[in-house]
Amino acid sequence: MERTLSIIKPDAVRAGHIGEIIATFEKNNIRIVAMKMVHLDPKGAEGFYAVHRERPFFGELTAFMCEGPVVVMVLEGDNVIARNRELMGATNPADAAEGTLRKRFASSLQNNAVHGSDAPETAAFEIGYFFNALEIAG
Ligand code: CMP
Repeated sequence: MERTLSIIKPDAVRAGHIGEIIATFEKNNIRIVAMKMVHLDPKGAEGFYAVHRERPFFGELTAFMCEGPVVVMVLEGDNVIARNRELMGATNPADAAEGTLRKRFASSLQNNAVHGSDAPETAAFEIGYFFNALEIAG
């Protein structure tokens, strides 16, 4: 059993896609074991994306993540890190496969609707960034 962090980004929240994204996880046998809505401030977004701090898009990305509320979730299931990334599709919606969350709901490389951890180590960091142990249903 594995866990991963999922974020419904400000663009998808603003466009009213929270329900459809959650339904996609549930239909695909992925359990939601923690969930909350937060409005990140610049420090919060910069800390979360610290690994990208040297990238040219860091400023725009962190500003975008503060534009409005996001929904953060801990997802649980067998091989859920890879399965969530498959459901999300490619980072750039232009390259995302038909039916994936980013194909359905993203509008650009930056405004790409959802985030998902890419490896067990990043999942552990990202889950701990938003949730303490008491906030995660066993
Ligand atoms: P995410 O999966 O949240 O991880 C890092 C994010 O940075 C990524 O989704 C995109 O939203 C964003 N991103 C990645 N590459 C670029 C880029 N070249 N220009 C702008 N944003 C990017």
